[in-house]
Amino acid sequence: MRTVRTTVELREALAGAGQVGFVPTMGALHEGHLSLIRAARQDCDVVVVSVFVNPTQFNDQGDLAAYPRDEDRDAALASGAGADLLFAPSADQIYPAGYATTVRVAGVSEPFEGAHRGAVHFEGVATVVAKLLIAVGPDVAYFGQKDAQQVAVVRRLVADLGLHVEIAVCPIVREPDGLAMSSRNIRLTTADRPRALALKAGLDAVAHAVRSGADPRDAERRGTMDMHKLGVEPEYLALVDPATFAPADDLTRPTLAIVAAPVGAVRLIDNLTIPAREEA
Ligand code: PAF
Repeated sequence: MRTVRTTVELREALAGAGQVGFVPTMGALHEGHLSLIRAARQDCDVVVVSVFVNPTQFNDQGDLAAYPRDEDRDAALASGAGADLLFAPSADQIYPAGYATTVRVAGVSEPFEGAHRGAVHFEGVATVVAKLLIAVGPDVAYFGQKDAQQVAVVRRLVADLGLHVEIAVCPIVREPDGLAMSSRNIRLTTADRPRALALKAGLDAVAHAVRSGADPRDAERRGTMDMHKLGVEPEYLALVDPATFAPADDLTRPTLAIVAAPVGAVRLIDNLTIPAREEA
């Protein structure tokens, strides 16, 4: 695997490449990222992985400073999973002096993560994803279902800008006990780690309530109660439309249960697809 740091080197390396698969990351690779790289390896001729800790998508400078960075480790893991090219640009390469353009995806980027992390978060994500997709020019770009709202924002962005790329979404990878893999999990203390299971417990309770005939708001309440039993207060636990993130009212269509909660000092998110309920 070769590492390139500029878009010029990237284009040279990809000239004449066949089907290009692209996995954008902010590094700190874990099994979730590796599953995306492996999927790209299976589907495509050339696999590009980017590692760029995008400063514009952090609303909290402490979070940006604390973000784990270890390029050598990431490069070894990406290569082991089948990447051909690591694109590791500097901030100047992505945001040159005088940079003044922001991509804003209205609607789907506004509630939940958008409300909690501020408009800058998804503006930063949409801007960098648009820039990376233009720079790499992949046939397929791979994203994890764990960041479900990010997936919905990226799908809207790709449709609206008419980018010729297929968006492939890979399932959430979980620890054996059900905790969704995240770069943040290593910051959970030993005491907080068991409480982190509250997110999945809340989602499972919502799914169970939907199957038992509860209406959406009641299902959300039951999920919240199960999280309380593990001592965790959700920031939100909601049933939404997977494409728009508007509150779901019709459970005879597939919906998405989404949750975010602080566990000790670490903020975690998770989600679960809820199959359509048969009409009585
Ligand atoms: O999901 C991430 O790691 C980031 O939001 C992404 C898509 C690489 C953009 O910086």
